[in-house]
Amino acid sequence: DLLDAGTDPKAALAALARELAGRNDLPDFARRATQMVFGEGPVGAPLFFVGEQPGDEEDIQGRPFVGPAGRLFDRALDAAQVPRDEAYVTNAVKHFKFTPTGKRRLHQSPDAGDIAYYRPFLLREIGIVAPRLLVGLGATALRALTGKAVPVMKARGTILPGPEGLPVFATVHPSYLLRLPDEEVQRREYARFVEDLRAAHAQAA
Ligand code: URA
Repeated sequence: DLLDAGTDPKAALAALARELAGRNDLPDFARRATQMVFGEGPVGAPLFFVGEQPGDEEDIQGRPFVGPAGRLFDRALDAAQVPRDEAYVTNAVKHFKFTPTGKRRLHQSPDAGDIAYYRPFLLREIGIVAPRLLVGLGATALRALTGKAVPVMKARGTILPGPEGLPVFATVHPSYLLRLPDEEVQRREYARFVEDLRAAHAQAA
């Protein structure tokens, strides 16, 4: 296993996941999570998508983007004709951070310290997958990828400098689309998100 991790990127990803899950200095919220949610997708995928953190369903299933935001993301990828095998999907923060309120677990945004804790692992994950383009979905991802605060609404659709000399394509988080109250705005913003995914796909080709 140790030998494999040096040459086989899939083994290296599995080893990285085990290393993170087994750390004894994880933040408190990570200990309250059901499990760690690591990235998923083929090694060498040209597109490397980064979300914020696992949500309630992701925490239970142990897989990224399988809840409501994930279903919207899947639909948008489909509409943008981005093949699944060209996409690696992960999160900046790899445990669900929540406030327990009655029977619901209320999503809590990760802070700069949380992002910084997981960042070295995200960078190593990027190094192993070796994509052509990083796509930051929303503010947390963009902060993790660029190392600084990025105004999402201004930066969306543009390329920012990222780690290892890799470009970072900025776009919104699919949850943002789910939260929009106005149907007309939601339709327009969804279409723009699909356009962003199409542009990112073309950029990575
Ligand atoms: N939102 C995210 O940012 N990541 C997930 O995995 C699910 C929802």
